[in-house]
Amino acid sequence: MSSFTERYHELTKYRPETIDKLGTVHWEEQPEPFKDVSPGKKIDLIPHLKPLFSDIEIAPDPTLPWLRDEALPALTRLLYFTLGLTARMSSDGGPDLFLRAAPSAGGLYPTEVYVAVKDFPDLPSGLYHYHSQKSALIPVWEGDFFADLQYHFLNHPVVAESRCMVLFTGMYGRSAWRYKERAYRRILLDTGHAAGNLLEMAESLGLDAAVLGGFYDGGIDELLFLTRKEEFPLLGIALGPHGSLSKVEGQVPSAPPNEAAKLVDVNDPMQVQQNTCERLYAALPLRSIVTTLPSSIHFDIGGFNPQAVILQRRSTRKFNGGSILLKEAEDMLRFAFRSDGSDWQLAPGKMGLHLVVFAVEGKEPGIYDLDPETLDWNMKREGDFREDLRGIGLGQDLPAQCSFALIHTADMAGLVSTYGDRGYRYACMDAGQTGERIQLWAVHRGFGSSGIGGYYDDWANELLNLPLTHGILYLTVVGVPEE
Ligand SMILES: Cc1cc2nc3c(=O)[nH]c(=O)nc-3n(C[C@H](O)[C@H](O)[C@H](O)COP(=O)(O)O)c2cc1C
Repeated sequence: MSSFTERYHELTKYRPETIDKLGTVHWEEQPEPFKDVSPGKKIDLIPHLKPLFSDIEIAPDPTLPWLRDEALPALTRLLYFTLGLTARMSSDGGPDLFLRAAPSAGGLYPTEVYVAVKDFPDLPSGLYHYHSQKSALIPVWEGDFFADLQYHFLNHPVVAESRCMVLFTGMYGRSAWRYKERAYRRILLDTGHAAGNLLEMAESLGLDAAVLGGFYDGGIDELLFLTRKEEFPLLGIALGPHGSLSKVEGQVPSAPPNEAAKLVDVNDPMQVQQNTCERLYAALPLRSIVTTLPSSIHFDIGGFNPQAVILQRRSTRKFNGGSILLKEAEDMLRFAFRSDGSDWQLAPGKMGLHLVVFAVEGKEPGIYDLDPETLDWNMKREGDFREDLRGIGLGQDLPAQCSFALIHTADMAGLVSTYGDRGYRYACMDAGQTGERIQLWAVHRGFGSSGIGGYYDDWANELLNLPLTHGILYLTVVGVPEE
């Protein structure tokens, strides 16, 4: 086994014989799920949020100057529907639980969102943290940091073209207290889900969005005052009015695994080491961008309104085992993998996709390979594998009662040889984004969906008849929700 990624993935597999060692969850140990970078100072977004809810349709108003002249109305919408609070649940005796616009493994919400802006009359140039509970922007630094960002994002031209960049980070502790070493996988998936919402919102507001996975991580740490090993930058998305940003034609790989592994401190947790290997370092030579050809799956999204769907969205807690039409399943996949809008995949072509079908009218139950370029289904094994999927999903009912499950995999050695260890980051965030895109279209069409982040990895390989060199990255289940 050559790369740290392969080691990390292997050592964080769930196995029936060791799952008990994970121990019970001690809720009293849960860290605070909100971050206060600078208590006391804030730019209140609530006045811009209120008009959203006075309009039942909450459709974007085309007369508003989305990120052309003013920042605040557009940012309020973009950030709220990315990761704002959309529901509040009381818990027995404990503090209320806030649910957000994007799903999160275990509802732990390790993803944080920051924004950099410049030259808007209604918002001083600066770096801000989005405080979802307060619906506010909290200033981190005032001033124009786009020259710094441009350097840290390896002089990508879209940074100079944009006046607004959203930056996603992940906080280890918020997930690791519960999921231990496997937390990092879930943090990446969660962040992909949130990024998926942002991109749908940007498209619906007629904005260009450029997804940048390549940056000097240490530079972003410094700009955002991130505590190393506690919070790490994961993704940047530059935004601008339609037609203002160049296309992003690929992503930057990190150093070859043997170089990156020299930076690992074996005393750190695995997940910190994995993130260390994935980083881009100014001191290490950069490898050239992996350019990718865009796919050409077109899909007319018709009256899809992400704002209405995101407000309505919840991960399905129980399916009724009912079936869905083949056309509905195909539309979900076409929506998810459509190439219209911004280029959303960080590592296109590196994802293996498999469908486990239980109840899709027009398809025999069984296991299918899904071609990501054409979305053709190729039957591999016929049969009803509900009990296998229940077992693989740690005994949960959801995977056994869905209509179909999409299993996201990657040939780990291939991923790492193209993108270095950063490929793991790219592929897991792509899987999260795919899951979000599936869920949004499912909800739009009256169906339900959930991510499944807890599963026995090798058992899933066995079911799919895939060699263990292919990592199982995520499961997305879709079906008819029980009323
Ligand atoms: C990466 C990821 C993994 C998840 N894994 C599971 C799972 O294994 N079982 C489950 O019932 N729900 C799972 N969920 C759904 C979360 O429990 C759900 O998103 C969270 O409770 C918040 O609720 P909401 O999505 O309805 O807002 C997962 C969600 C994500 C994003």
